[in-house]
Amino acid sequence: MDRNEKFAALPAPLLAWYDQNKRDLPWRENTDPYRVWVSEIMLQQTRVEAARDYYIRFLRELPTVEALAACPEEKLLKLWEGLGYYSRAKNMQRAAKEIAARGGFPERAEELRKLPGVGEYTAGAISSIAFGNPAPAVDGNVVRVLSRIMGDGEAQDILRKRYFAELAPIYPAGRCGDFTQSLMELGALLCLPASPRCLLCPVYALCATKSDALPAKRDKPARKETEMTVFLFRGDNGLWLGKRGSGVLAGMTEFYNREQKMSAAEAHTFLQGAGLQHFCLQRAGAHKHIFTHLVWHMTAYTVDTQQALSSLPAFAELKFYTKKEAEESVSLPSAFRWCMQWIK
Ligand code: ADE
Repeated sequence: MDRNEKFAALPAPLLAWYDQNKRDLPWRENTDPYRVWVSEIMLQQTRVEAARDYYIRFLRELPTVEALAACPEEKLLKLWEGLGYYSRAKNMQRAAKEIAARGGFPERAEELRKLPGVGEYTAGAISSIAFGNPAPAVDGNVVRVLSRIMGDGEAQDILRKRYFAELAPIYPAGRCGDFTQSLMELGALLCLPASPRCLLCPVYALCATKSDALPAKRDKPARKETEMTVFLFRGDNGLWLGKRGSGVLAGMTEFYNREQKMSAAEAHTFLQGAGLQHFCLQRAGAHKHIFTHLVWHMTAYTVDTQQALSSLPAFAELKFYTKKEAEESVSLPSAFRWCMQWIK
């Protein structure tokens, strides 16, 4: 069997297996493009199990593209709180405004790609699942599945491009969305990164690898390591929070921090230098937060003070919240959430 014949032999067994084994997931209830789009954006960097409850709540609060377009940003970020990669939510809202303005979703992958936050993979997923087009969607999981079946040892980004071209002609008319999802589902349930369950696989006979020997391992990105001192400013029945400038978590809420390691004595001196006069500083705890390209080694100090911090130039951007306000209306990224345990 040559390479083209092998590709052509995939849809029938994969679809039969998918029909029997697909998971009951909330975004599979129907193929409304808005629902499909929201699920694909959430699933870009979030595991299915972690995304599920967020998805249900998001769709309940914002059931249509118009509702998303009109949603206040604070509410949107609150719905996204804890999912990470917040630019996804902001891009979705920009895209929702474009879609609402043009009166509906574009259907072709090339058009979908022009929307903010929609790349080649997501465009293919939406076009095939929501509109039934033969538009491949190749993410890391699909590369893993196909590299094993085909026995391809090349680098993953090279294979990704090749698989887009090779999948397009074998998409089965009438079942394009299910075929896209059958490849994803095989990667999620059987063709696992480690210890794949080959004996249950519907394409076992076609598979050149039958093990986890492929795909070729990627070089891990070197992460920049940064020391960070975090100040948990506590006033009367509340706390002071700021907003991040540019860079990682741009525009998100944060506890005041400095990108340097400070002992308690150094932190004390720093606060005095910034003009804080009456305060009590105590070491709270430490935490390592890992982003894709960055690691923060964080040390937090509680600082009890009655002073109006925002009257000091160094802290002019900080705002005071009651604990209840902070919990109900502010979206605090996971990188800072652990600090809330010291807020009374
Ligand atoms: N990962 C990305 N898209 C998915 C989908 N539609 N179903 C399951 N897992 C996915």
